[in-house]
Amino acid sequence: MAKGSVAIASDHAGYALKSVLKEELAAMGCEVVDLGTDNADSVDYPDFADAMAETVTGGRAERGVLICGSGLGISMAANRHRGIRAAPCHDVIAARLARQHNDANVLALGARLIGEETAKECLHVFLETEFEGGRHQRRIDKMS
Ligand code: RB5
Repeated sequence: MAKGSVAIASDHAGYALKSVLKEELAAMGCEVVDLGTDNADSVDYPDFADAMAETVTGGRAERGVLICGSGLGISMAANRHRGIRAAPCHDVIAARLARQHNDANVLALGARLIGEETAKECLHVFLETEFEGGRHQRRIDKMS
């Protein structure tokens, strides 16, 4: 789905990386929906996770990217919403498995834990890897 619509949001700790990944998404030909934050002033990550959940479950974006300092708080908040499967990934293996086995619809990144190049690689793999279905679908169904 490399060219679909992708929403992106972060808290203050992820703001700089969000700017980098927004450019990367545009270069990939994606339609980008930026849900904020818009600067490095301190904010609360659940607010951005909630906006992401509404955007993805409402069909305004096919997938999402969430960024906070660790990728943990913002993914926890997002996963409270039915229909959201947010995967905190710090390497491309996790990003690939999150798609192949878990049909993750939101990639969560920790800006304080990974560098820009790894984040870009995770983004590409996340958007270009298909869900394998089969036995994995049964397990997804049990979480729905
Ligand atoms: C903000 O300082 C930090 O706690 C937040 O970005 C995130 O890492 C929480 O999980």
